[in-house]
Amino acid sequence: MNVAVRAPRRKKATPDPADLLAWYDRHRRVLPWRARKGERTAPYAVWLSEIMLQQTTVKTVGPYFAKFLGTWPTVEALARSPLDDVLRAWAGLGYYARARNLHACAIAVVERHGGVFPADLDALRALPGIGDYTAAAVGAIAFDLPAVPVDGNVERVVTRLFAVEEALPAAKPEIKRLAASLMPASRTGDFAQALMDLGATICTPKKPACALCPFDTVCIARARGDQETFPRKAPKREGKLRRGAAFVVLREDNRVLLRQRPEKGLLGAMTEVPGSEWSHDFDVATALDAAPKIARATWRKLAGEVTHVFTHFPLALTVFVARVPKTAAAPKGARWVKVADLPGEALPNVMRKVLAHALD
Ligand code: ADE
Repeated sequence: MNVAVRAPRRKKATPDPADLLAWYDRHRRVLPWRARKGERTAPYAVWLSEIMLQQTTVKTVGPYFAKFLGTWPTVEALARSPLDDVLRAWAGLGYYARARNLHACAIAVVERHGGVFPADLDALRALPGIGDYTAAAVGAIAFDLPAVPVDGNVERVVTRLFAVEEALPAAKPEIKRLAASLMPASRTGDFAQALMDLGATICTPKKPACALCPFDTVCIARARGDQETFPRKAPKREGKLRRGAAFVVLREDNRVLLRQRPEKGLLGAMTEVPGSEWSHDFDVATALDAAPKIARATWRKLAGEVTHVFTHFPLALTVFVARVPKTAAAPKGARWVKVADLPGEALPNVMRKVLAHALD
């Protein structure tokens, strides 16, 4: 008698990329920059989305991505556009060096590569604003090059899968090595996006949904039950609080005084209301020394402070307001802007908060 015996399914000991790809095929998120199954997103759109998604959530990026593609449908169009228009369209996304690099990169792609993104990791990495992560993401997603982009989500997945005890940031090289060890021989673009989706939807920082994870049975941290404690992190040194003053001058004809920040440095070339230096030893008693010189302006200090957290330091601004007649001239380097036109200005979030506080 011939009895067919099914071999028992062997439990896998190490993560198999095919399991993650199979999970991705069933559960991939629908995202504006993501091609449908079997299709491919244009490299320009992949690059644009990856720059926008650095430090910014998928939800916030959506409308900006659509606006940029609508305004500048090709890399040539973006390269031809004045930088000011790009900064204005970027306003609200934060980390404005990205917008300047975006524009510089578009120009470089046109000049160096005839307007075609190179399908080569080194050539991608040589472009403005493209580091290891973005080169790997664009290379894999747009061209299926052999690369695994490692961002915060992927770091979390990998440190849990392998229970990496070393703390970030020192553990980064080891995490990259382990991430690369998972890379499949094909479909690297889907694999990269699968890791991102796994980190965003299953392998979340708190209460990960391990029972739904395709790596459930091979994840070392899951087996130990301490998955929420990964990745290990070196204690963070918080930047010290800086303080300063912001001056909102409102003209009788509903215009506000604005100026441009210096090209270089934090929020370079963005628009702001006049203000003092931001420093650790700011003294509110002498704040008006930094106020714009406008004849007959009487300053009123608003209650409370406007706070904002930058990457390297938190900031608290005291806001002063003055109402001035229609005849008031703008000091050198500043200009009057209609309140109704403020949404179209390249105002960073901290300045939008200041204006909301003053104009409410
Ligand atoms: N985060 C960064 N890049 C992403 C992408 N392409 N899809 C989803 N989340 C991301």
